[in-house]
Amino acid sequence: MNFNIALVKGDGIGPEIVDSAIRVLDRICEKYHHKAIYTDLPAGGNAIDIYGEPLPRSTVEAALKSDSVLLGAVGGPKWDTLPGMKRPERALLGLRKSLELYANIRPVRLFDALKERCPLRDAGAFDIVIVRELTGGIYFGKSGRLQGSNGIEAFDTEQYSYTEIERIGRVAFDYAMKRRKKVTSIDKANVLESSRLWREVMHELSAKYPEVEYCDMLVDNAAMQLVRNPMQFDVIVASNLFGDILSDEASQLTGSIGMLPSASLGKTRRGLYEPIHGSAPDIAGKGIANPIATILSVAMMLSYSFDLDKEAKKIEDAVTAVLNKGCFTGDIGGKLTDREMTDAILEKIG
Ligand code: IPM
Ligand code: MG
Repeated sequence: MNFNIALVKGDGIGPEIVDSAIRVLDRICEKYHHKAIYTDLPAGGNAIDIYGEPLPRSTVEAALKSDSVLLGAVGGPKWDTLPGMKRPERALLGLRKSLELYANIRPVRLFDALKERCPLRDAGAFDIVIVRELTGGIYFGKSGRLQGSNGIEAFDTEQYSYTEIERIGRVAFDYAMKRRKKVTSIDKANVLESSRLWREVMHELSAKYPEVEYCDMLVDNAAMQLVRNPMQFDVIVASNLFGDILSDEASQLTGSIGMLPSASLGKTRRGLYEPIHGSAPDIAGKGIANPIATILSVAMMLSYSFDLDKEAKKIEDAVTAVLNKGCFTGDIGGKLTDREMTDAILEKIG
């Protein structure tokens, strides 16, 4: 199989971790007789520096022509004072929106080897998938500033259509059918009208999936339940903002945010795959970032965009094996560099 992969390495540790992930993908291609062709695309802070904008049109066009996009991370202190629409993060949001990637899949599981790193006393082997709505809600609603009677005011709007809620709900229920058949939908229906519509639509869907155990959970309670008993969750479905917040919280249960991959999917096979963490400017260029989240994102790409489950499993097994051997980067209590960790994974892939 031939794949055209668009690479958005981005800023901070982005280029380092994407390079590690490419080494892994190249090894898989060699072993299983595939061919990956890469196109580097500017986006984020680096694009601001060169083109004066975070997401050049040419990047979007090239991404639309690719079979899938692998992204590192965008942003950094250098661009932190720019106005909202010119910030590096716009690149990420713009890519998600232009590629119509409305479903963000974030698996959160605890590797056996990292049990000690889980901050909970008796967590057990939880295995959660967060399905986050990615192209709607407050991230894309009307926002702005205005002069109020008491001075400057600012607003952002949480708005969801029936269709947007239904299509993300379907992703969650379909996912649950392939897993432990349980969906927990997150909302704030005791306060927000958008959440009440969200809940109504989820209830309608739940009637269509009688085999799936369904429950609603208010977001504040969900934040608590995640650290009280993560074992109770299978698939969690949430709005853009709630999913963003809960996935960072959940990542800590796995020992490090450096472990969590993600897939952003839409109607076509083209996805965008990226670690859920950011550009970590404090450790950029030092070669000590944990490449596992990005490497596991490549595994998700192989499986979701190209149906190459065997190849994806090879990567996941290699990661599990090196962790079992005690190979850890700094964030998970070890001393390995990004390169050494990647070498260990490559050796396991063989
Ligand atoms: C994420 C990130 C992004 C988001 C930022 C960088 C815009 O936090 O992917 O979780 O909020 O979606
Ligand atoms: Mg986030």
